Amino acid sequence: MAKDKTVYSCTECGGTSARWLGKCPSCGAWNTLIETVAEAPAGGVRNRFASLAPASEVAALADIEASEVERTPTGIGELDRVLGGGIVEGGVVLIGGDPGIGKSTLLLQALDGLQRAGVPTLYVTGEESGAQVALRSRRLGLERSQVKVLAEIQLEKIQATIAAQQPAVAVIDSIQTMYSDQLTSAPGSVAQVRECAAHLTRAAKAGGTATILVGHVTKEGALAGPRVLEHMVDTVLYFEGDTHSAFRLVRAIKNRFGAVNEIGVFAMTEKGLKGVANPSAIFLSQHSEPVPGSCVLVTLEGTRPMLVEIQALVDTGGPSPRRLSVGLDRDRLAMLLAVLHRHAGVACMDQDVFVNAVGGVRISEPAADLAVMLAITSSLRGRALPKGFLAFGEVGLAGEVRPAPRGQERLREAAKLGFSMAIVPKANAPKGGKAGGREFEGLTIHPVERIEDALEVVRGHA
Ligand code: TYD
Ligand code: MG
Repeated sequence: MAKDKTVYSCTECGGTSARWLGKCPSCGAWNTLIETVAEAPAGGVRNRFASLAPASEVAALADIEASEVERTPTGIGELDRVLGGGIVEGGVVLIGGDPGIGKSTLLLQALDGLQRAGVPTLYVTGEESGAQVALRSRRLGLERSQVKVLAEIQLEKIQATIAAQQPAVAVIDSIQTMYSDQLTSAPGSVAQVRECAAHLTRAAKAGGTATILVGHVTKEGALAGPRVLEHMVDTVLYFEGDTHSAFRLVRAIKNRFGAVNEIGVFAMTEKGLKGVANPSAIFLSQHSEPVPGSCVLVTLEGTRPMLVEIQALVDTGGPSPRRLSVGLDRDRLAMLLAVLHRHAGVACMDQDVFVNAVGGVRISEPAADLAVMLAITSSLRGRALPKGFLAFGEVGLAGEVRPAPRGQERLREAAKLGFSMAIVPKANAPKGGKAGGREFEGLTIHPVERIEDALEVVRGHA
């Protein structure tokens, strides 16, 4: 096959160049030119009036039939939850995560579930041989699995197989191992990853095969990792959680067919990943007595409330003290420390501050602020928070405590797990009820409006 002419196009502005340049000739950005296949103009020479040809038809929004997408559940409840109910015909899902976190394991289990339900599947592996995949499937207890396996890394051959086999669901494990012979770049380069993903996406839309692309989060992070594909696909899922603990979280970052921030929780077992249907208590470390520097919060990312313990360690630092956070945003930590100092007189200027969300969970919602600040104060003073205590609420630069969405649901979950005392934003305190809304299903609620008030409540209970 004659090679199409390669051109270099800019990832920023779309400008092109016939040869590789360090700087984009169109927009002047550096290192943005990547190799792409020039689309051959249809019918030889491009007709310069082509752009004047009648466009596709337009219709009023009200005249277009609104049809719900049909979903095929994978049978793995926690995965279906993040997908928004199941796999959608022709939908493209990108699933990213660190190597070894369980991507291949989860997808093999999902494909087997689909295949057993009579849905034709194809698992394309570029990282392992067929024998290795078979070994894994035995380990997962899927000896009799009818999932079709193709060990191949060349895009054109994979596309031919998909066209011939017509699977309803295909997994490409991983997109970084695939290459198209239209490009001279090495597999795993940004050019190859984008080109292969674009072709597979187009084929998925045209042929109706739901396609799941596996992407490793690479050391370079954004570069050739799954990040560069996020805009092309319908759904983006990321694995979270540290590989040392048994729990794995799968979070939907983007979903054209469901809610974002929905979380699926799994435990890695001898026989693969098992869904954890009631995960609210898994991110708590089991202290028999309260310890300083620990505060529990109820986080609500997606639709499910979860209790997460925030740990802080404040210790004498050197001339330029460190601020480190695991699972929480570091810039936000710096901001909260400034608010603590300015509005509550809690000074950590000469202290190292470390904070950690237990269990490798990542918390992006600001409702964690209050718990982070209380954990820091508790560590600094060496005084534990009361037993059965929790707090949530966003804290603003003026020291005000802002409400968190769906406060009642959070409180209900905490009450269910036997917590006894909560500091919450005033607007989240239940209305009415006994003692002016201070009792809620066994929880004593302390509504606060400012960070100083929250520290005052804690001091009163020490
Ligand atoms: P894997 O799914 O290959 O991760 P990825 O595709 O994301 O790179 O492997 C996940 C890890 O889980 C691997 O280190 C081995 C382990 N594992 C189990 O603990 N139990 C199992 O049943 C399987 C198949 C793997
Ligand atoms: Mg793998």
